[in-house]
Amino acid sequence: MEDKFIFIKSYGCQMNIYDSNRIKDLFLDKGYKLTQDISKANLTVLNTCHIREKAVEKVYSDIGRIKKIKDKKEDLKLVVAGCVAQAEGEEIKKRAPIVDFIVGPQSYHKLTGMVEDSNTSINSDFLQNEKFKNLIFNSSKLSSEFLSIQEGCDKFCSFCVVPYTRGPEFSRPVEDIIYETKKYLNNGIKEIILLGQNVNAYHGKASNGKSQDLSYLINKLSEIDELKRIRYMTSHPIDMTDSLINTHADNPKLMPFLHLPIQSGSDKILKKMNRKHTVYDYLKIVEKIRSVRPDIALSSDFIVGYPDENDEDFEKTMKFVEDVKFVIAYSFIYSPRPGTPAQYKDNVDIKLKKARLSALQSLLTEQQLNYNKSFINKKMEVLFEKTGRYTNQYVGRTIYNQSTFINSSKKILNKILDVKITNSTNFALECQI
Ligand code: SAH
Ligand code: SF4
Ligand code: F3S
Repeated sequence: MEDKFIFIKSYGCQMNIYDSNRIKDLFLDKGYKLTQDISKANLTVLNTCHIREKAVEKVYSDIGRIKKIKDKKEDLKLVVAGCVAQAEGEEIKKRAPIVDFIVGPQSYHKLTGMVEDSNTSINSDFLQNEKFKNLIFNSSKLSSEFLSIQEGCDKFCSFCVVPYTRGPEFSRPVEDIIYETKKYLNNGIKEIILLGQNVNAYHGKASNGKSQDLSYLINKLSEIDELKRIRYMTSHPIDMTDSLINTHADNPKLMPFLHLPIQSGSDKILKKMNRKHTVYDYLKIVEKIRSVRPDIALSSDFIVGYPDENDEDFEKTMKFVEDVKFVIAYSFIYSPRPGTPAQYKDNVDIKLKKARLSALQSLLTEQQLNYNKSFINKKMEVLFEKTGRYTNQYVGRTIYNQSTFINSSKKILNKILDVKITNSTNFALECQI
């Protein structure tokens, strides 16, 4: 029998990368081989993102390119998986008839069966529980592995598609997460990054049947010797409990980095966004976490040009960023999304949106560069995760999640080493052992 090849492309968030790894594992188990070359593939999977319009347009432009390959290669099947599949379903085939299969983020465990018997071409059911029971877990990397512990979202921020594409909140049982972690650790993994769209809303069942929170899970996982580092993302301010904050002080394996999106520094806008927290609530969390873990590195997400955002609201966001000082943050222009409550009122001029984004990004970049510079000549602990572009170059992460480069003739891959930071360039650090 001839070899069959699968090509997978991931768009969007880390949860999609995790899902792509699982799709890969399911097909490798069926005898497929992974390829980086679409023209060689028998099956191409686009694991898509629906968060902003641009993300969706990217998928359709890729489909356009794949059509040219598919026209010449009859046995190439095309799958649209992920959040666009969930949000648009059959509509995808109207716009792109060359798509063979459509499968949502909570039903992709069915994909091997769909491809094998070709009877069903679409599945967008929310089968969270059944899905995780049918997945296969092999580590995709050397040192650090993503692990989804929580799916979906019940928050319904008025701009966001996630509650519709990923479905209701679902937490995996503690034991299942421990089992999966151990599988990765057996392959030498040192760090686990716990994932969820609302990861700090985690409330999975422990073996005694009781529901447990994220701090319990982190402490439970950290009992495993081989596991050296734990991270989690993405958190919502209203689920930032004292027990989780205190875990940052008490658990040395939990890395001192917190990605906590706020979206805007104006209470008026936060209210319209249905964020369920105020700027004051967020500042209180920052104060608490800095009081127990003063060196915590804070990161966030911002949306500019949300409907009715005026100059005063935007100035509040800038002031907020100046006050908190983020080590890194992501910012986006508001993108009206089908099915969301905010979609009908996109009333900020695009020029103004762009100007605000650029002002905010300059400030955030300045903060990030200053933060990184402050480490020059200091000692840090780095996990070296992969080889760099040049010979003898390695890339790692500091405990604060900064990317760090080193030149070394020693074999340092997958090692945690104490290094001295020598330089800071373009959002990354350089170091020496
Ligand atoms: N679950 C996370 C992240 C959701 S998506 C949270 O609760 O914050 C990642 C980021 O994309 C969001 O934090 C938000 O800043 C941005 N985003 C989501 N919907 C958007 C939209 N319609 N337009 C622009 N940015 C958006
Ligand atoms: Fe989207 Fe809000 Fe849920 Fe985050 S909390 S995934 S922004 S609805
Ligand atoms: Fe995108 Fe879906 Fe993630 S919309 S950000 S891939 S949850």
